[in-house]
Amino acid sequence: MSRRNYVNEINFVTGNKHKLEEVKHILEPYGISVKRVTVDKLEIQSNDLCEIAEYSAKIVAERLRIPVVVEDAGLFIEALNGFPGPYSSYVFKTIGNEGILKLMRGVKNRRARFVSAVAYASPNGFVKVFIGVTEGLISIEPRGEYGFGFDPIFIPYEGDGRTFGEMTLDEKSRISHRGKAFRSLAKWLTGH
Ligand code: IMP
Repeated sequence: MSRRNYVNEINFVTGNKHKLEEVKHILEPYGISVKRVTVDKLEIQSNDLCEIAEYSAKIVAERLRIPVVVEDAGLFIEALNGFPGPYSSYVFKTIGNEGILKLMRGVKNRRARFVSAVAYASPNGFVKVFIGVTEGLISIEPRGEYGFGFDPIFIPYEGDGRTFGEMTLDEKSRISHRGKAFRSLAKWLTGH
């Protein structure tokens, strides 16, 4: 039997308290608790979220000598050729939701997707990546007080017309990119 069948705790490397809260909620039904690990920023420059998550997880697991989980997520807007994608964090900090809505002013095609890449790495160099994707539309105006980041401007197709920002943590997690990726990780960790 492989060691992962016994996993009931993960070391989640994140500086984002909203992500931490979401991941705790997503993994709770699987009996997996989440321990937060913070490290100095070590992201590589890449256009590929999987590559970024995989590389970061590998480095941290080796450095701390414990198995870790790293998530890299981003919003990809079709009419902007996938922008901001892997640069989502920087773009949110600089131009924010208002800046994105400005870029999208008058644009008919509002299709976008959120992608989450979750990498599990152990200190021996083993890495496995899980992906979650949620498709939707960019709203005309920001709506909602819940969540973080681009939540107020993203309307998932799987929802009822509300933005992620108008959904509770539980409602968002059922259909979010993060929910999908972390549930795949949980099933793998618990052997289901
Ligand atoms: P990170 O590099 O994985 O921390 O995420 C990049 C950026 O994408 C974050 O700073 C947020 O602005 C945005 N982002 C990632 N996931 C979400 C989400 O679930 N909702 C809203 N924005 C998100």
